[in-house]
Amino acid sequence: MDLRIVEPDESIDFRMNKRLLNRYRFIEHEMVRTLAGWLPAVAHMETKLDMGRLLWEDAQHVQQLYLRLREVQNPSFRLPDDPALERLMREALHAPGAEDLLAGLFRVIKPALVVAYEWHCEQTFANPDAPTRYYLQHILLDERAQLAWAETALASHPPGDWEAYIAALLAAAGGVTGLEARAPAPDAPACRRTFEAPREAARDARFSLDMSTVARPAADDRAGQRLDEFRNYAQEVLAAETCALVLYLTPDMPWEFTYDLARHCYDETRHCRFGIEWLARHGLDYTTFPQNTRIYAWRSQYDPVTQYALLTMGNEAHVFGYRQQRQREYEALGDRLSEQFVTYDMADERQHVSFGRRWLPELLRRSGDPRPLDMFIADAMALWEREYVSGALPIHA
Ligand SMILES: [Fe+2]
Ligand SMILES: [Fe+2]
Repeated sequence: MDLRIVEPDESIDFRMNKRLLNRYRFIEHEMVRTLAGWLPAVAHMETKLDMGRLLWEDAQHVQQLYLRLREVQNPSFRLPDDPALERLMREALHAPGAEDLLAGLFRVIKPALVVAYEWHCEQTFANPDAPTRYYLQHILLDERAQLAWAETALASHPPGDWEAYIAALLAAAGGVTGLEARAPAPDAPACRRTFEAPREAARDARFSLDMSTVARPAADDRAGQRLDEFRNYAQEVLAAETCALVLYLTPDMPWEFTYDLARHCYDETRHCRFGIEWLARHGLDYTTFPQNTRIYAWRSQYDPVTQYALLTMGNEAHVFGYRQQRQREYEALGDRLSEQFVTYDMADERQHVSFGRRWLPELLRRSGDPRPLDMFIADAMALWEREYVSGALPIHA
C-alpha cells in the first residue's frame, strides 16, 4: 500500500506550542505582579478593589498554563527567552499613573493576548492538544470580561504617550506570539516614572483619613457594635494592600505562594466589599466613614516575612474568638445578613491563617534571618502586641 504524506493545516506544532505557552505564562505572571505592586498606590477605591479580583483571575490563568506546561516541559516555569518580551513586561510597571498603567495592561497587552489565545485554539492540533484548548477557552471567558471592565473603567482616560510606548514595546517583541514582524525597539517617553513599591496607601478625595473622629461604641450598644464591625470591614482593603505588597516583594518564592497570596489579596478586597454592601443595605454610604491608612504605613516598614507574620499570626489568627461571639449574637438577634457575612469571612480567615502557617517557614528560610521559626514568630507577636494592639503604630525612622 502506498500511503501519501498528508500535510496538516495546523500551524502550531508541539515545539511552538511550548514556546507560546511559556510566553503566555510569563505575561500573565508579570500582570499579577504588576497589579499587586500598584494596588496600594491606586487611589480610586473601586478600581483598587477590582484590581484584587483582576490579579486573582490572572493568577488562575498562570495556574492553568502551569498545569499544562508541567505536562510538556521540565522545569515547567521558564523565561520566554526573548529579551524584547521581558522588556515589555518589565517596563509596563513604570507607568506615570494608575490609569496609564491599566491602559497599558488592559488596552494594549490584554487585547493582544485575547487575539493570540483565539488564534492558538484554532491553530493547534485540536485533539492532541485538547488540554491546552480547554484552558485557553476558559481563560478567554475572563479575558473578554476584563476587556469589557477596562472599557468602562478607563472610558474617560484618553490614550497617551504611555499607551503608545507599551504598544511599541509589544510590536518590538513581535506581538504576544513573537511571530509578527518585529518593529524597532522604542525609547522610553518622558512621562515614564520608575516604580517603587508603595509604603503609603492611597485613598481618593472622598475619604477622610482621620481616625480620631471615630468613636468606639459602648459595650452594651449593640446597634453601635454592629455598625462598628461592618464599618471596619469596609476598611479591610488595608489587608489586601499588605498582601499585594508582600506578593510584589517576594518574586523568588515558589509559584504556589504567589497563587495563595493572590487569593488572600482578593479575599481582603471581598471583605472590604462585605462592609460596603452591608452599609449600603442599611442606607449608609461607606465613603462617609474614614479610612485607616496608618496600619499599612506601619506594617510596610518591615520586611515581607515580618509583614506576613504580623498579618496572619497576629491579626488573623486572633480574630476567631471575637467573630464567633458576633456570629452567635447575630443569630440570637435574627440578623441573618450579618451572620452570613461573618460566617463567610471566617471561612476565608481560616484559610489565611493556614497560608501563614504554610509559607512563613519558607519565607523565613529564604530571608536569611537566622532565628528558628518559633522564635521569629514569638518576636513578631511581641512586636504586634507592642506596636499594633497598643494602637501606637509607630513609624520608625
Ligand atoms: Fe479579612
Ligand atoms: Fe484575612
